[in-house]
Amino acid sequence: MNLSGKVIWITGASSGIGEATTYALAKEGCKLIISSRRLEELERVRNNIKLADSDILVLPIDLEQYQHTDEWVKAVIAKFNRIDILINNGGISQKGYALATDSAVERKIMDINYFGNVALSKAVVKIMKQQKSGKIAIIASIIGKFGLPNLTTYSASKHALYGFYDSFRIELKKDNISILIVSPGFINTNVAINAVKGDGELANENSEAMENGMKTDVFARKFIKALKSNRNHKYIGKKELLTVPFKTFFPNIFYNLMYKMNKKNK
Ligand SMILES: NC(=O)c1ccc[n+]([C@@H]2O[C@H](COP(=O)([O-])OP(=O)(O)OC[C@H]3O[C@@H](n4cnc5c(N)ncnc54)[C@H](OP(=O)(O)O)[C@@H]3O)[C@@H](O)[C@H]2O)c1
Repeated sequence: MNLSGKVIWITGASSGIGEATTYALAKEGCKLIISSRRLEELERVRNNIKLADSDILVLPIDLEQYQHTDEWVKAVIAKFNRIDILINNGGISQKGYALATDSAVERKIMDINYFGNVALSKAVVKIMKQQKSGKIAIIASIIGKFGLPNLTTYSASKHALYGFYDSFRIELKKDNISILIVSPGFINTNVAINAVKGDGELANENSEAMENGMKTDVFARKFIKALKSNRNHKYIGKKELLTVPFKTFFPNIFYNLMYKMNKKNK
């Protein structure tokens, strides 16, 4: 698929994976809708790409407030009159053991990472059905394929995305709408710093895995390649991706290793 001239809406465009992907999409000649909560950060990203005003819409949204999805879609249609691709990337991570995590915090993570994500896709699909074409890309995670301590609800939200979109993909086939699930490994962003703790406060601390993770521009290059293809799914990361087949084929060894690592890190 040639991305030039395509109308692409990306959430979580104000930093990390979304910001790097926005720059890569601008280079491809796309028309962009960039969304997240922080308007000033979206404006910074917009200033870095210098697209003509007619080719970009800065649309602040809070995925937690997903009762407003139809209004957000209306704003996009008023500007571009179509949506070729939605990249559902916005999300938050977690840092805290399950027993130390308030249920309000668990709900917040699910609201943003799962319910907000799904509500936006459903609203956009209504437009794509009228167009008789479209693509939705989801930034899930390898943590949607196995679990890790301190990440119970985050992991649950990413597992839930797999369940929803693997099913939705089949429902949408007849409408010429495709779904691409992308599972990043460890990517060098502020996701760990921006994670929420059990009491809802910001973690504000980076993790070694993120610091040593794949650079966001490398991720964006690989992601764009997947977006242009007809793939249903793509893992993007470094050697940590081997964890997925390892857990699938050797689950007992996998869990024994995880128990040991968790004991060591305590
Ligand atoms: N980095 C990794 O290793 C990794 C691995 C697997 C999956 N992922 C996934 O990749 C996606 C992007 O994360 P990142 O690594 O790039 O981290 P990041 O730099 O923290 O970016 C997260 C993005 O999501 C936006 N966001 C957060 N809460 C939101 C809300 N309520 N409504 C709308 N937007 C919201 C943030 O913008 P505002 O603060 O402006 O709202 C920001 O643009 C996430 O879904 C994450 O789970 C990351």
